[in-house]
Amino acid sequence: MIDLEEVSMHYGNFVAVETLSLHVPQGELFAFLGPNGAGKTTTIKMLTGLLRPTGGRVRICGIDMETSPVEAKSGIGFVPDVAVFYEKLTAREFMFFIADIFGVSKEAALRGCQELFARFELEEYAERRIEALSHGIRQRLAIVAALLHEPRVLIIDEPMIGLDPLHARTVKRELRARSREGMTVFMSTHLLNVAEEVADRIGIIDRGKLIALGTMEQLVAKAEGGQRALEEIFLSLVGQEGEENRGG
Ligand SMILES: Nc1ncnc2c1ncn2[C@@H]1O[C@H](COP(=O)(O)OP(=O)(O)OP(=O)(O)O)[C@@H](O)[C@H]1O
Ligand SMILES: [Mg+2]
Repeated sequence: MIDLEEVSMHYGNFVAVETLSLHVPQGELFAFLGPNGAGKTTTIKMLTGLLRPTGGRVRICGIDMETSPVEAKSGIGFVPDVAVFYEKLTAREFMFFIADIFGVSKEAALRGCQELFARFELEEYAERRIEALSHGIRQRLAIVAALLHEPRVLIIDEPMIGLDPLHARTVKRELRARSREGMTVFMSTHLLNVAEEVADRIGIIDRGKLIALGTMEQLVAKAEGGQRALEEIFLSLVGQEGEENRGG
């Protein structure tokens, strides 16, 4: 469903992502972890066609992002790290605006909006202008807007930022339920407990390189120091890489 083939992103001499290859099959909930500045958002921007890789190839549902960007993007729901809204629109108007862009019919948009607003407890904000919404409410709106066209692939950069525990749970459940129904989810997160709880598979990126990939069981089995918790595994891997780099 999501295919990265030796994808790189260079900013001048700086290498933000280096020959990253990764396949995320349909229905998988994939968690992408890594320290600040590791290259998560850069990778996500290449996956969604916002950034053109300096090397390699991105395919979504088998469609090449470089040669068929419109077709590739039509299958994606995207929640960026910092969502962009039209501040003067109401929450409901924004949903219909998004429906229009993705060619969702009026009836489907009405039904989808109603269902999603109910599930994410957004009904009371439906007629409010986005500029007047709190951070967490905006984040919930960004998530439901990305789900409105029933994307086959959901790409979500730090979904839990700003969410209260109740709505963080709603999002976790929604992502799990959708992936069981066949939606592929690519999620970056710093919340290791969330990754451990919901992800089918975990990838860890550090300094632009994928340094670990597998199910929680596989990561535990590979941990050289016998670590069992994701936090310990993460810290030992990222710490180690840091030491090596500083040493050499
Ligand atoms: N437009 C740009 N020009 C130059 N360097 C950039 C640009 N965008 C990002 N970078 C650099 O690329 C690296 C990766 O950044 P990226 O935003 O992908 O990290 P991240 O893993 O998402 O980090 P965080 O956890 O802080 O969100 C960083 O060193 C960043 O400074
Ligand atoms: Mg980021």
